[in-house]
Amino acid sequence: MEVVILADEAAIGVLVADAVAALVRRRPAAVLGVATGSTPLPVYRELVRRARDGLAPDWSGVTFFTLDEYVGLPAGSAASYRSTIARELTDPLGIDPAQVHGPDPDPDRLPDAGERYEREIHEAGGVDLQLLGIGADGHLAFNEPGSSLVSRTRIKTLTARTRADNARFFGSADGVPRHVLTQGLGTIGEAGHLVLVAVGEGKSAAVAAAVEGPVSAGCPASVMQLHGHATVLLDPAAAAGLERVAYYREVWEGKPDWQGI
Ligand code: PGA
Repeated sequence: MEVVILADEAAIGVLVADAVAALVRRRPAAVLGVATGSTPLPVYRELVRRARDGLAPDWSGVTFFTLDEYVGLPAGSAASYRSTIARELTDPLGIDPAQVHGPDPDPDRLPDAGERYEREIHEAGGVDLQLLGIGADGHLAFNEPGSSLVSRTRIKTLTARTRADNARFFGSADGVPRHVLTQGLGTIGEAGHLVLVAVGEGKSAAVAAAVEGPVSAGCPASVMQLHGHATVLLDPAAAAGLERVAYYREVWEGKPDWQGI
């Protein structure tokens, strides 16, 4: 696992946007796994800025898959992850909604929603690059502590902590749905490149457990240690709980520019 500590979220946004743009230039039919929440926003802002400045790669052949979705929201809710990713990324990039996939929270079709989503990802050829945030409780997508490390897309129940953390999108923790559909840890692990971003002191304990702790369902994000190409991008506050900071910095400073992440 590569750990990169940069000055702030803007610098992280630039580096991740570079990696995404390089992927799309290399592979015009790339499959991009996108995350919601606050953490990926600097990446999306940077990608949208480049598109406005005429610096964007050609997005017309790219397919997008979201990580997870709330269950029980009214259809078309602005808080749904489908709406969020359209608002923050794919609409500003001018992407056809048909190129964007998400787990289907239709209450009449829930029993096989996970299986259907797995099939869609498989038929698209799998995810090339998956953007990830991390929950303060160590969750990855909405795989809460205790999730099987080989889990597939399915319904999960959010912890009280996650509902409190996401209350800002719903006015109160009580307004946050209890249930979600989420890609499993096994599903996420099949992506070609995992790119996890974390900023702020509130993530430092979860980051330390995920990066330097044991691989354990107790910290779902620790499953990234089993992946052959995983990059963790942090600001100094999110890196504050790590023991090997000096080494991570030395590795990054010595890395040739052409390698990217
Ligand atoms: P955040 O959420 O980016 O809004 O902090 C991350 C997550 O819950 O995975």
